[in-house]
Amino acid sequence: VLVTSGPTYEPIDPVRYIANRSSGRQGHAIAKAAAEAGAEVTLISGPVTVPDPPGVRTVHVDSAREMLAAVEAALPADIAVFAAAVADWRAAEPAAGKIKKKGGAPPPLALVENPDILATIARRREGRPALVVGFAAETEKVTEHAKEKLRRKGCDLIIANDVSPETGIMGGAQNAVHLVGPDKV
Ligand code: C5P
Repeated sequence: VLVTSGPTYEPIDPVRYIANRSSGRQGHAIAKAAAEAGAEVTLISGPVTVPDPPGVRTVHVDSAREMLAAVEAALPADIAVFAAAVADWRAAEPAAGKIKKKGGAPPPLALVENPDILATIARRREGRPALVVGFAAETEKVTEHAKEKLRRKGCDLIIANDVSPETGIMGGAQNAVHLVGPDKV
């Protein structure tokens, strides 16, 4: 079983980066549960403060592109679960040195899209894991949007989180999800 977890960090210069608030708790818990169920598990983790789960081979990466390379290196797998909150964009040209404040207008920050790791693996012709699971975080029409994502990304199952503020799920330790397949929820 292969699992991705946590955020990715996308460098702007040697000291600054683009990131998100993913804790890695969900992905790490899934990796741990799979290991406890007897699977041989590789966890590809972005930068997190949660500890490596026991009994799991954990590979640490920073950026989305590093995560994709680590996922490809960890294949083949029977099951792949993509729980990471991968940054959608990265800086087009990270600066080699720290960007200095020079007064005047702030420097522009051009972004380019990151590879979609889930879609890349789900659409592979050769060596596609038999079960490819993705996640969705939605604030409205949760299962409807999840079904659309299932088709768009080519995966077998979407685990849909309702992250509207009243659920308290975002950043919380408890969760309730919808498992969305091609023809049932
Ligand atoms: O498109 P969105 O980010 O909502 O899709 C979420 C799902 O896609 C998650 O399973 C996430 O791990 C995966 N994903 C990915 N690579 C990206 C963006 C999302 O693997 N660049």
